[in-house]
Amino acid sequence: MQLHGNKILITGATAGIGEALLHRFVSLGNQVIAVGRNEQKLQALAEKYERVIPFVCDVGKAEDLDRLVMQVEQEHPDTNVLINNAGVQYNYQVAEEPQLLGKMAHEVQVNYLAPLKLIALLLPTLSANNPAAIVNVTSGLGLVPKAQAPVYCGTKAGLHMTTKALRYQLPQVRVFEIIPPLVDTQMTAGRGKGKISPEQLVDEFIRAFRKEKLEVSIGKVKLLRFINRLSPALADRIMKGGV
Ligand SMILES: NC(=O)c1ccc[n+]([C@@H]2O[C@H](COP(=O)([O-])OP(=O)(O)OC[C@H]3O[C@@H](n4cnc5c(N)ncnc54)[C@H](OP(=O)(O)O)[C@@H]3O)[C@@H](O)[C@H]2O)c1
Repeated sequence: MQLHGNKILITGATAGIGEALLHRFVSLGNQVIAVGRNEQKLQALAEKYERVIPFVCDVGKAEDLDRLVMQVEQEHPDTNVLINNAGVQYNYQVAEEPQLLGKMAHEVQVNYLAPLKLIALLLPTLSANNPAAIVNVTSGLGLVPKAQAPVYCGTKAGLHMTTKALRYQLPQVRVFEIIPPLVDTQMTAGRGKGKISPEQLVDEFIRAFRKEKLEVSIGKVKLLRFINRLSPALADRIMKGGV
């Protein structure tokens, strides 16, 4: 993929991995449609970079997604890359969590249904441009789960499988997957050790993006996949107590 001259929609662009992707892609000479809920942060990014187009949108809300799609179709038909990055993780015990159904539904909506809807509705726009790409951000926890986040792991496993199948169906679109290990962001604040920075993740991803290496296991996820091939039981033991 070309590293400049793209128009890239990034969900969850106001923090963590999404924000690091935004900084890198803008500095490489791309335009970025930055999607998130935090209007102030979006405004600050747009003031800092003229190549950032801010769009306030809660990807968990159907009406917000519809507004976003309409805006892209009408104002940005040259959008050629969609990065589904926004995500939420709740840690809970299903037998004890008082807001169980709400948390489960929110995780499924934000992590799985929103990316699917954006892919479905933006596919005609993306496909009309060349080159076109979809980038889905999943997780090592979508390969081997931890006990504390059963639905989060399920949404990432689902997105992992959907990404692979779409790659078979859509030869005209490069369908990438970023599979991160633990990354030091607000999502993992106060938990876990040995985290990489969002910038380290972006360094690895950008190399893969340029070479069109579509399934991008980042850092320790490469080792996890190796162990999981040799001994799935060992991989399960390593990951199940994850924080
Ligand atoms: N950090 C890790 O260790 C790790 C590991 C594996 C995979 N991942 C995945 O990487 C992606 C990014 O995670 P991160 O660690 O960068 O998380 P983060 O620091 O919490 O940032 C998440 C971003 O998504 C936005 N967001 C959350 N809910 C949203 C919604 N309903 N609508 C629109 N935007 C929303 C947040 O902004 P607002 O809340 O302000 O709207 C923020 O910009 C996620 O898909 C996550 O599952 C992370």
